[in-house]
Amino acid sequence: MHLTLSVSRFDPKADTCPYLKEYVLSWEQHETVLDVLFKAWHEDPGLSFRRSCRSSICGSCAMIIQDRPRLACQTLVGDLIGDGGRLSLKPLPGFRQLKDLVVDLDPFFEALKQVIPWVLALPGHDGRVDPKAARLAEGPATCILCGICDAGMQPAGRVSPAALVKNIRLAVDPRDALGPGRLKIAGLTGEGLMTFRELLAQICPKRIDIPTVAVE
Ligand code: SF4
Ligand code: FES
Repeated sequence: MHLTLSVSRFDPKADTCPYLKEYVLSWEQHETVLDVLFKAWHEDPGLSFRRSCRSSICGSCAMIIQDRPRLACQTLVGDLIGDGGRLSLKPLPGFRQLKDLVVDLDPFFEALKQVIPWVLALPGHDGRVDPKAARLAEGPATCILCGICDAGMQPAGRVSPAALVKNIRLAVDPRDALGPGRLKIAGLTGEGLMTFRELLAQICPKRIDIPTVAVE
C-alpha cells in the first residue's frame, strides 16, 4: 500500500516561511506514523523531527497528525488514513518552529519550573507514603512531558496545563510542604479542575486520570 505524506518543512537558514513537502511512501498495517516518517527521512535526510523511545515514554515525538496533536510512535497509520491515502504532519502549535517538525520547547519547561516541580520536603515527615496516597498520585505521575496539552489547551488557572498536572501530582503527595495549597497558588477553582480533567482526558496521549482533589 502507498500513502502521500505531507510534512511541514521550514529551515530558518533557507526559508522565509514554512511550506508543505509531499512524499509518496509504502506502508503496512502494523506501522506507526513514526515508522513512515523514518521512511521519508531515509529518502530525504534533511528532514528534522524528534524521537527517542519509540514506546510512548519519552514524549519527544509529539506533533500534529491529521490536524490533531498526537504521539507519532503511538499512532497507527491504518487508524487514520482514509480512502484518499493522505497523512499530514505539522509541528505542535503554540511553540516556535525551529526546523520542520522540531519546535522550541524552552517555554514549555520554563512554565513547568514555575510550579516548583519537585517535592518540597515537609519538615518532620518520615518520607513514607501509604498505598492510598500513592494511588492518588499515580495518574498525574504518568505524565511524559510531551507538551501536547500545552499545545492544545488553554491554561487552567495561572499555570500551563502540563505544569498543573505536575502541581496536582505534588498536591496529593503527603511529603510535600505546600500540599493542597499548590492548587490555590495555581489559581485553580473546583469547577476549573473538573473542566480541566475532562479536556485533558480528550487530548492526553497517556490518558492521564486526574484525581478528584478538594480545591479550597
Ligand atoms: S499531561 Fe498528557 S498531554 Fe500533557 S504533557 Fe503530560 S503526557 Fe503530555
Ligand atoms: S518516540 Fe518517545 S514518545 Fe514517541
